[in-house]
Amino acid sequence: MLEKYLEAGKIAKQVREEAVKLIKPGVKLLDVAEFVESRIRELGGKPAFPCNISVNSDAAHFTPKANDERVFKEGDIVKLDIGVHVDGYIADTAVTVDLGDHENLVKAAEEALRKAIEVVHAGVNTAEISNAIYETITEFGFKPVFNLTGHGLDHYLAHAPPTIYNFRVEKGVELKEGMVIAIEPFVTNGVGKVTERGECEIYSLIALKPVRMRQARVLVEEILKKYKTLPFAKRWVKVSEIILAKLVREGILRAYPVLTEVSKGLVSQAEHTVIVEENGARVIT
Ligand code: CO
Repeated sequence: MLEKYLEAGKIAKQVREEAVKLIKPGVKLLDVAEFVESRIRELGGKPAFPCNISVNSDAAHFTPKANDERVFKEGDIVKLDIGVHVDGYIADTAVTVDLGDHENLVKAAEEALRKAIEVVHAGVNTAEISNAIYETITEFGFKPVFNLTGHGLDHYLAHAPPTIYNFRVEKGVELKEGMVIAIEPFVTNGVGKVTERGECEIYSLIALKPVRMRQARVLVEEILKKYKTLPFAKRWVKVSEIILAKLVREGILRAYPVLTEVSKGLVSQAEHTVIVEENGARVIT
C-alpha cells in the first residue's frame, strides 16, 4: 500500500512540474489537461480525477470539455489540480500558476500549506492544521475560501474523512499514524465563499441502481469498470448530456459543477498529499 501511494505521489509531482511549464498565454486549457492525463498513464498511473484547471475566480472543478477552445490569457491566475492513482491509492496535488501580478495571493497559499505541513504528526488534532492555515492567510491580508477543504484519501476515494478546514475551528479530529491526507488551502481576495455556476464537466458514480435505458446502462457499466467511484470527465465518456443528467436525477451519478468565488474574487490554491508519521509528515507529492 505504501509503495503504491509513493508511486502515485512521484508521478503526480513529476506531471505537475512538467505541466506548469506549459501554462502560458495563448495555450489551450484542453491541451494542458490532455497532456496531464496522458502523461500520468505514460508514467504508469491513472488519473484519480479529471485534470482540474480553474482560472481566476473559478476555484475548483473546472475541466475543459471536448473540443474546448478556451486559452490562457495574460493576467490569469491558474489553479492546476492533479490526481493520480496506482491501483486505487491516490495522490492529490495542486499548484497555482500566475500569469499576472498576483504574487502575494500565490505566496499566501504556498506559505499556508508549508505551515500546515509543519504541524502534522500522529496525535495532532486537525484543528491545529486549520488554525495554522487560517493564521497564515489572514497575515497576508487575504481570506481562506471557507467552503473548500482538505480531506483524507482512501482506496478509490478521492474525498474521505477527515475534513481539514481552512479556517479557525475549535476542535477537529486526531490524526493517526499512517493516515493519508490532502491539505489544500484556498486563498482569495474576495469574500471567501464559492458557489456553483452552471457549467459541469465532472461526475462520479455514487450508487448502483437498476437502469432501464440501454444507453445509460452501458454507460454505468463502463464507469464502474474504468473509474469505479472516482470522478470522471464528460469528455472521457461518449454519451449525451441528457443521459448524464438523467443519471444524476436518479441518484446514480453525482455532478461536480464548477465552483466559483461569489464576489468574483481571485483564488489561489496549493496542495500536497502527506502520510501522517509518528513525528511528522511525509510529503508524497
Ligand atoms: Co484535494
